[in-house]
Amino acid sequence: MKFKKKILCIGAGYVGGPTMAMIAYKCPEYKVNVVDINPERISEWNSGKLPIYEPGLDEIVKAARGRNLFFNTDIEKGIKEADIIFVSVNTPTKKYGAGAGMAADLQYWEKTARQILECSESPKIIVEKSTLPVKTALAMERILTSTDNGIHFEVLSNPEFLAEGTAVKDLENPDRVLIGSSQTEEGLKARDELIEIYENWVPKERIITTNVWSSELSKLVANAFLAQRISSINAISELCEKTDADITEVSKAVGLDSRIGSKFLNASVGFGGSCFQKDILNLVYLCRHYGLDQVADYWEGVVKINDYQKDRFVLNMLKAMFNTLAGKKVCLFGFAFKANTGDTRESPAITVSRKLIEEKAELRITDPEALNNARNDLKDIKGKISFIEDPYEAASGSHAIAIMTEWDLYSELDYEKIFQSMNKPAFIFDGRNIADHNKLFEIGFNVYGVGRPPLTHF
Ligand SMILES: NC(=O)c1ccc[n+]([C@@H]2O[C@H](COP(=O)([O-])OP(=O)(O)OC[C@H]3O[C@@H](n4cnc5c(N)ncnc54)[C@H](O)[C@@H]3O)[C@@H](O)[C@H]2O)c1
Repeated sequence: MKFKKKILCIGAGYVGGPTMAMIAYKCPEYKVNVVDINPERISEWNSGKLPIYEPGLDEIVKAARGRNLFFNTDIEKGIKEADIIFVSVNTPTKKYGAGAGMAADLQYWEKTARQILECSESPKIIVEKSTLPVKTALAMERILTSTDNGIHFEVLSNPEFLAEGTAVKDLENPDRVLIGSSQTEEGLKARDELIEIYENWVPKERIITTNVWSSELSKLVANAFLAQRISSINAISELCEKTDADITEVSKAVGLDSRIGSKFLNASVGFGGSCFQKDILNLVYLCRHYGLDQVADYWEGVVKINDYQKDRFVLNMLKAMFNTLAGKKVCLFGFAFKANTGDTRESPAITVSRKLIEEKAELRITDPEALNNARNDLKDIKGKISFIEDPYEAASGSHAIAIMTEWDLYSELDYEKIFQSMNKPAFIFDGRNIADHNKLFEIGFNVYGVGRPPLTHF
């Protein structure tokens, strides 16, 4: 079949896989080729069990795969034949050298830029899909124009706003698609080519265009604002615990103000995921680079409250369970950083597990999608940890349950049966406030939510 244009995506992860599957699904006249350096990931994308769990993803991959959607490891060939190259490689927090623990690690990004330069034989549009520090497109352009091969590369910024767990819904019906381009004739032409793709399913008024720098910065700022709401409500949750106010009631009362809105106001054990922390730290690093220390301190506070909230959760467990967890069995309900994903990157469950092991507790971890990742995250820990599929089996014989992930499953379990199988007194620490606390208390549990007075039998 003759395709209108050939798209390549470098990086077949949580962003590259679903975004390209959606483009291929909605635009059969484009050939969409997704490549990665990781051959296992690619073979999973070609198999019946995709490498990531995301509701609705199987269906769109199956519909487009082999028709106009292809996954493979031949990056060189992919670059040669592509007209438009999306780059969605990982950009984690740097762990070494200058900016360690703060700045974005751009090594994967730069390797990709150099490979594009090396393999290209014709002009290309390069689309930044990864989340990058503002001004990265400039660095990209400098690399791409570092030889005099005469090939023109036009760099666009098109950050991805999907949330894991709702990626397919978010991609199908996005609040907005943001495209940043240079304001030159060539920049605007490239921008229009990208708009043409999205227009296949996204209403025109939701496709917004800016200069490249606004686009790059907007992605960091959007994540910083989202995380800031969670840290704000979590900061107030501790005050509720001291004053007998209830954070759920406070959130509702505050969120009903239409200027504030109700989303992202659920108190919890803290936010996780591969993006919020790294993007805020990246923003903080940028602010410090430009000498804006007050601005940097303000945003850094969002991450600090989040760390504090995770620490506080474990300290509350310790205090409630008579100041010792040594030898006690603690069952974690959920390990993913949120519901409907198997992703555990930066999950609060990792911090909580490590701290519980430091207290010499014995861990029993259950999760419907994240057990393999959990095993990997905790593989360096010396301590007693078991990974158990069935939540009833995991809870049996435990002294306490800690709900770490808001999977629907955990609000629907037969807690009467669970209580009967546990060590007494039985404790439940609901890090997501999803269970029916009054009912649990009636069953016999000592119940501790976040930002609420505990319900105890002593
Ligand atoms: N995960 C999210 O929810 C989300 C949402 C919006 C934006 N983002 C951003 O998107 C980017 C990608 O995130 P992700 O979660 O998909 O990461 P990921 O780690 O799941 O995927 C990145 C993939 O890139 C591959 N890769 C790395 N270097 C490569 C190279 N040189 N050539 C080919 N492949 C290479 C890796 O093997 C990996 O499979 C990040 O910048 C992230 O901040 C992520």
